[in-house]
Amino acid sequence: MQATESPVRPSMRFDQSALREIHSRVDIATFIAQYVPLRKRGNDLVGLCPFHNEKTPSFHVHPDRGFFKCFGCGVGGDVISFVQKREGVPFNDAVRMLAQKAGIELEPESPQAARMRGERETIFEANRLAAAFFARALASDAGAKARAYLERRAFSRETVARFGLGYAPASWDALVGELQRNAIDLHVAAKAGLVKPKESGGFYDFYRDRLMIPTLASTGEVIAFGGRALGDDEPKYLNTATTPVYTKGRHLFALNVARRAAQREGAFVVVEGYLDCIALHQAGFENAVASLGTSFTLEQVNELRKYAENVFLCFDGDAAGEAAATKAIDIASKVLEHAGSSVRVVLLPPGADPDSYVREHGSQGFQALLKRAKPAIEFRLDPEIDRLRDGFSSPAVIARKAEGLIRAMTSREEWDRWRQYVADRLKVSPDDLRNSRFLTNTANFSPRSNVAGSRYAPVRSSPAGTVEPLSFEREVMSIVLEEPALAVEFAERIRPSSFRDPRYRGIYERIVRHAAEAATTADLMAFFVEDPAALGVLAAEGSRDRSSTVRFGDSGERRAHLERIAQRIEREEVESRYRELRGRIDEAFTAGEPISDELRKESEMLVSKLRKVKA
Ligand code: CTP
Ligand code: MN
Repeated sequence: MQATESPVRPSMRFDQSALREIHSRVDIATFIAQYVPLRKRGNDLVGLCPFHNEKTPSFHVHPDRGFFKCFGCGVGGDVISFVQKREGVPFNDAVRMLAQKAGIELEPESPQAARMRGERETIFEANRLAAAFFARALASDAGAKARAYLERRAFSRETVARFGLGYAPASWDALVGELQRNAIDLHVAAKAGLVKPKESGGFYDFYRDRLMIPTLASTGEVIAFGGRALGDDEPKYLNTATTPVYTKGRHLFALNVARRAAQREGAFVVVEGYLDCIALHQAGFENAVASLGTSFTLEQVNELRKYAENVFLCFDGDAAGEAAATKAIDIASKVLEHAGSSVRVVLLPPGADPDSYVREHGSQGFQALLKRAKPAIEFRLDPEIDRLRDGFSSPAVIARKAEGLIRAMTSREEWDRWRQYVADRLKVSPDDLRNSRFLTNTANFSPRSNVAGSRYAPVRSSPAGTVEPLSFEREVMSIVLEEPALAVEFAERIRPSSFRDPRYRGIYERIVRHAAEAATTADLMAFFVEDPAALGVLAAEGSRDRSSTVRFGDSGERRAHLERIAQRIEREEVESRYRELRGRIDEAFTAGEPISDELRKESEMLVSKLRKVKA
């Protein structure tokens, strides 16, 4: 291969899919071996570095991970950078050479993709122009009313500047004019939600006579606006709907300014309102973000988790706030339930919101609220415990619910602590909680049994010498035990032969065989009544602490979890076949034999299968 003149302009963009194709189709080991003799060592291939002089090989190729690295001179990278360095060509040329070799048709970015990109960039530009225009309007004569409003709410000039607040003039065409002056295509501005098409043709301003609050992406682009009415106009807020650059529920307001403080402090404060959030920043809580409206989504939690593990959720102290908190907690603890992170809940006094609270009680007052914040699990457990006083629920029922919450929401190391918390208040023993799952699961089967004295007592520890079964096996067992119909449904895909622990394999085999005739857990257990050993294992499964943090609140969740397990099994099967094949290719490779078309074909097929099962 030689460096030829580039027919591709350096600025030209390739379709991203072409780069992905190169990485998946060009095997880095086979490729580099054309330049450098390589020998297999462990999982790597090693050879003499082509980029510096050496006598002992320190040049490594990791075929699995698709990169090379020389521990002598430090050079490393993927197959594209290998070609760049080796041939001394720029990125584009390296891509082109590789594409040609691999028979990949290299399309320049499709006109449609280019148009999309162009449109997004126009939207960013339109939003930026609009934000600047609103900010100027706020400072102008027209903005007097909005400035007075901000003053009344005690927002300082620094705060206004920091958040880029602005004012949309009470006009139908002020922004339209500004965008036109800047040669922004108004059709695109309409897609950005800044202007609306008129029936008679042309466009009009969407935001009129409102305080404008821009939302910025962490990269600094303005992606959305909230426009607050200055009086009692309805609606109170007009917000950007979903646009090509903004998806509702994915972003958080003020994340661009809050993330640094959050990283420093290890925590975010999440509130619902724009102005609550801004007020908190002004009071010194620079790690505050707003979820924008009532929604707090999984995507938002994941976004926060990039910067800090801990989250304070602040909600109004009314029924709506409490309901919103419960919902938000359930979402947040899906992601943050592992050790080392925590979700705490702050319920404000009735009638207060974060903004009014800091104004009234100062930063210290709000700080004290944060200090008293309840761990999310406590927030969820307390109402359950309170139901005891209502007299509608028995301790057993409450214990079971509480145990479910504890397992789902806290890390395993904390379970006993929270069992104790509940047990103290219910006047039961922590063991009752630990075993409550078993108690209710088998209630029909053995109504009077108390766990400790039962002949189905859980096996406390596995017999010496046995391997602790894999967690997926335990999960499958306990799910189908809870819902035998699922064993029938998944019989083809989760086969007993995939189980490694022989005890579980045998029992699961029998469950699959009998599941069709069993409507309930008790029916299923009845098939094992003559087999105390198996029954012991099953009972243990019913009561055992799950290592997984997955919750199975209902049949849908159970099915979804089995689906995940089935997919994982399928994936592992393909992967292990692929590994075996790679071993054979590597062998041929080390022996200097050509790699047969047959091997190549099979490997290609497996790669495409792998891609499918991973998707
Ligand atoms: N919200 C909305 N549309 C509304 C009302 C509220 O989109 N009609 C969203 C806004 O993101 C708002 C949040 O819900 O910020 C919380 O509402 P609220 O507490 O009423 O707003 P604040 O921003 O706190 O405004 P204020 O303090 O002026 O009442
Ligand atoms: Mn408010």
